Amino acid sequence: MKCVKVPLKELNDTRIKLMENGLMNMEYRIKAEKEFGYIPINDDIDDYEIVDVELEEIKKVPHNFSELLEGELTEEEIENLRTSFDTIGDVVILEIPDNLENKKQLIGDAALKFTKRKSIYMKKSAIKGTTRVRDLEFLSGVDDSVTIHKEHGARLKLDVREVYFSPRLATERKRVMESVKDGERILDMFCGIGPFPIVIAKNKDVEITAVDINEAAIRYLDENIELNKLNGSIETYCGDVREVSKSFNSKFDRIIMNLPGLAYTFLDVAVDLIEEDGIINYYEFSDSYEQGKKRLEDACRKAGKEVEIINTRKVKSTSPGEWHVAIDGKIKKNS
Ligand SMILES: C[S@@+](CC[C@H](N)C(=O)[O-])C[C@H]1O[C@@H](n2cnc3c(N)ncnc32)[C@H](O)[C@@H]1O
Repeated sequence: MKCVKVPLKELNDTRIKLMENGLMNMEYRIKAEKEFGYIPINDDIDDYEIVDVELEEIKKVPHNFSELLEGELTEEEIENLRTSFDTIGDVVILEIPDNLENKKQLIGDAALKFTKRKSIYMKKSAIKGTTRVRDLEFLSGVDDSVTIHKEHGARLKLDVREVYFSPRLATERKRVMESVKDGERILDMFCGIGPFPIVIAKNKDVEITAVDINEAAIRYLDENIELNKLNGSIETYCGDVREVSKSFNSKFDRIIMNLPGLAYTFLDVAVDLIEEDGIINYYEFSDSYEQGKKRLEDACRKAGKEVEIINTRKVKSTSPGEWHVAIDGKIKKNS
């Protein structure tokens, strides 16, 4: 590397002068030895002794994803990839479109450098089956799918290959938690690893019954109960909530039904288990609130009850024109 050689005591002044005149090569590190210092330069300069010395290259830390994939993908492709990132603890899950399949390794390595997380996986299927889990392919980093995700001060341990979890529901969980009052008895019919129960019980003095059909999800929820300092209590059950709930001998002030594709088929169970004036936090996939409201009304009518819709909101977009919607209904006796 071409360098200016200067006595050590002149090193700093020379460095400043060269930098100010745009003559220093900023991609290499200055070397200082016993008596002399060596400053990398781009071209020969008069008035200095020029020597050839081996210098350490300064590793440029790429601070953005586009920079890492520059020349390989278009700006639009990079932007689409960036919005597909789901970060769960120190695991990142990417959605890579079919036309970029041949660049998946490059993208995975870039995502690892950009996010500085432990493991990068790509989605290999849609969320499917009763347990709502998707297939993943390991791309880069360490192939370890167990992680601890932090949300609203709670620690949620899970294996992204074995259980459902979406960090995109964090705002919804906070909203539900904030609407809960101390003393409530709550049933989470489809609790997964327990993000609703843990976030609520961490902040409120409540009694929660949490049910899931996925054994792995309940195993992690049991661990999460130990991992977090809770104000409330959580009792876990593994099994089909339609069956498991037959053994419950008290009713609930609130029932959470986050199984958006199929929750409507369990509305009869929820309407039966809810206290008078209790709230059902009902979720479904839809392009409007009308279908969900009608399903709640029909289920209540069949049970001789009524529903007052107290809130509706779009939780997240699922596909163009379709939403994961939330409908909160207060259930009353028929007047
Ligand atoms: C969409 S996930 C939601 C999990 C959790 N509430 C969350 O927000 O992360 C739905 C969960 O329902 C569970 N599940 C599906 N059918 C069930 C049933 N009949 N009884 C109990 N749990 C069920 C799945 O195993 C899955 O964990």
